Amino acid sequence: MKTTKRANHVWVLVTLVVLGGPRLLGQSFEEPHRPQFHFTPEEAWMNDPNGMVYYDGEYHLFYQHYPYASVWGPMHWGHAVSTDLVHWEHLPIALFPDEHGLIFSGSAVIDWNNTSGFGEGDTPPMIAIYTYHNMVGERTPGEQFQTQGIAYSLDKGRTWTKYEGNPVVPNPGIRDFRDPKVIWHEGTQRWIMILAAKDRLQLYTSPNLKDWTFASELGQGSTPQLGVWECPDLFPLQVEGTDQQKWVIIVSHGGGGPNGGSCTRYMVGDFDGSTFTPDHPVEQINWLDYGKDNYAGVTWSDIPEADGRRLFMGWMSNWEYATRVPTTEWRSAMTLPRSLHLRETDRGLRLASKPVEELNALRTSTTDIAAQTVSGHKQVMKDATLSEVEVSFDLANSDSHSFGVELANEAGEYIRVHYDRASSLIIIDRSNAGIMDFSPAFPGLHYIPIDPPTDRMDWHIYFDESSLELFVNDGAYVVTDIFFPTSAFSQLSFFAFHGAAKVQAGKVHRLERIWD
Ligand code: FRU
Repeated sequence: MKTTKRANHVWVLVTLVVLGGPRLLGQSFEEPHRPQFHFTPEEAWMNDPNGMVYYDGEYHLFYQHYPYASVWGPMHWGHAVSTDLVHWEHLPIALFPDEHGLIFSGSAVIDWNNTSGFGEGDTPPMIAIYTYHNMVGERTPGEQFQTQGIAYSLDKGRTWTKYEGNPVVPNPGIRDFRDPKVIWHEGTQRWIMILAAKDRLQLYTSPNLKDWTFASELGQGSTPQLGVWECPDLFPLQVEGTDQQKWVIIVSHGGGGPNGGSCTRYMVGDFDGSTFTPDHPVEQINWLDYGKDNYAGVTWSDIPEADGRRLFMGWMSNWEYATRVPTTEWRSAMTLPRSLHLRETDRGLRLASKPVEELNALRTSTTDIAAQTVSGHKQVMKDATLSEVEVSFDLANSDSHSFGVELANEAGEYIRVHYDRASSLIIIDRSNAGIMDFSPAFPGLHYIPIDPPTDRMDWHIYFDESSLELFVNDGAYVVTDIFFPTSAFSQLSFFAFHGAAKVQAGKVHRLERIWD
C-alpha cells in the first residue's frame, strides 16, 4: 500500500515536471490571449494591484496573488518592479500568509522620517500596510476576522519583516474591514489611513504607522445598489490649468457598475487631515471608468515632486467572471498605467485619465490614416500585426447615425467601438469578439453616455491581444474592456451607417512587446 502510494507520488511529480516544464523554466509570455504590453503575472492567479510605491528609481507593483492555481485562493503579495512603468521584472513573492491570516489588499509607503523606527542608518524603511483575512475566523461565529497589519523592508522591497505587534488596527466588529491605503499628510504631519468598512469609508491617523486612532467616517449606507466598498484611495490633486488643490477619493464596489458587476467611482472634495467633505452628495456617482474591466485600482505613493503625476493602475477584470476567463497558465492583467487629472467641466470637477507618456517608447512603426469621409464599412488596414496597436484619430460626425472603428480577424470575430449619435452613447460591442461562453455576464454591449452630446471627438485606443482601453477627449471618458478572439486581429475598419462620418487624420502605431 505504502509503496504504491509513493510510486503514485513519483509519477505525479514526473507528470508535473514534464507538463509544467516550460513553467519551471520561465514563461514565454506567448500563450493565447496573453497581453504583450500590459503587466501579467508569470503564472497563476492575480487580482488587485497592491503596495504601489516608487523608491530609488523603481516603481514597485505588488499584487494579490495565489501562486498555486489560476483561480483565487489564499492570498499572497506577488511583486514586480519597473524603471519606466512599462517593462516589468518579476520578483519573488513578497508577503506570505501567516498566523494572523491571508494577505489581502493594501498599500506601501516610504517612511522617510523613520517615524516607525524600523529604519537603519540612512535607509528609510519601505512599509507595507495590508489586511489580514483570517480563514478560521471567517468560518466561526463573529465578524472580526479582518484586521490590518504592517511589514517593513530595508532592501528595496526584496525581503520583508512582519511587525511583531500585528495587527495594528483591530477589527471593531465590521465584517468587511479592509484594503488600507496610507498617505503622509503634510498639513498635520501624520499618517492617514483610509479603509473600506462594509458600506462606508473610515479614516484613521497615526504618528508612526503602528498606533492608529479613528478619525472619521463617510457614506454609511449611502449606495446600497453598489454593494460592498473596497480598495479606497485618498489624494490631493490640482485642478488642471489652475493652482487650486482639491482632494479626491477613489473607491471600488462589489456590484452595480455602469455596465454591470464590480466598478470604481470617485468623489471630489476637501480634506483637513481628519475629515473628508465631498463637494457633492456622497450618493452622487462619478465613474472612474465606464468599461467592465478596471477594478480595485489605486495610485502610486512617493512619486517624486519633480514628476508630480498622480499615477494609477487597476486590475483588468471583473468579479462577475474573473475566475472563469479562458486563460489557464495565468489569469488577469493590469490596466495600462495612467495619470489622473482633475478637470473643470459643464458638470463640475471631473477626473480624467491619460495613458502615461512612457508608453510611447513602445511604438515601432506608424501608419498614417488619411482624412476621409466614411459611409458604410471601409477597411483601412489589413495586416497580420494588428493585435497590439495604438489607434488615434479625431472624428467629426456629419450626418451618420452610428459610426466607429472595428478590429476583426479572419474568423469573422470583431471588437467595435462606435458612437450612436441619436442617443449620444459610445458603445463597445464585444458580443462577437470570440470566446464568451464561460459566463452569461460576459457577452454584450457596453454603453458610455457622452454628456453633453458632441459631434467632434478624439479617440485614443490601445488594443493588446485581449483588451481595449479607450480614452475619449483627452481622457475625459475612459473605457476598459477585455475579450478573447480565437485568432489574431488583422483588419482595421471604419464604419458609418445611415449617413457619412468624417475622420480627420489619424495614426496607427504598432507596439512592441515588453517581455524579452
Ligand atoms: C477586491 C478585493 C479586496 C480584497 C482582495 C482579496 O478585489 O476583494 O477587497 O482585499 O480583493 O483578494
